[in-house]
Amino acid sequence: MNNGELIKLALGAREKAYSPYSGFRVGAALLCKNGKVFTGCNIENSGFSATNCAERTAIFKAVSEGETEFEKIAVVGGKAEDIIPSDYCAPCGICRQVMREFCDGGFEIIIAKNETEYKSVTLGELLPMSFDVREF
Ligand code: THU
Repeated sequence: MNNGELIKLALGAREKAYSPYSGFRVGAALLCKNGKVFTGCNIENSGFSATNCAERTAIFKAVSEGETEFEKIAVVGGKAEDIIPSDYCAPCGICRQVMREFCDGGFEIIIAKNETEYKSVTLGELLPMSFDVREF
């Protein structure tokens, strides 16, 4: 699966966002090493801290289906009124740490506006000196 295809799936997932409080819609598409793809959207809650980001929705869906080996993730986010995001939406700190639970620093994160405009970065770049209790 190429980056454009993965971004297209993330854009489709973004349409499912449940974000009545922020009016910000995010979609993610996670490619597993075995080729399976899991998508996710942000799901907000009246108790704000219960909100789940699109990236974690995709990762938790995958883990709950027995998949823990991941190749890359595409992320798209922007104001609800923008059919296609007008800017880049980088994963939040909590999502970066959740990625780190299953992926090493080489995990690819595609931060996209659309299928052709995107930045490709690694988890190591977004989360340097990361914490992993398993390394102690
Ligand atoms: N959000 C995500 O889903 N992913 C990110 O990487 C950043 C933020 C969501 C959480 C909340 O529903 C909304 O965007 C505004 O913060």
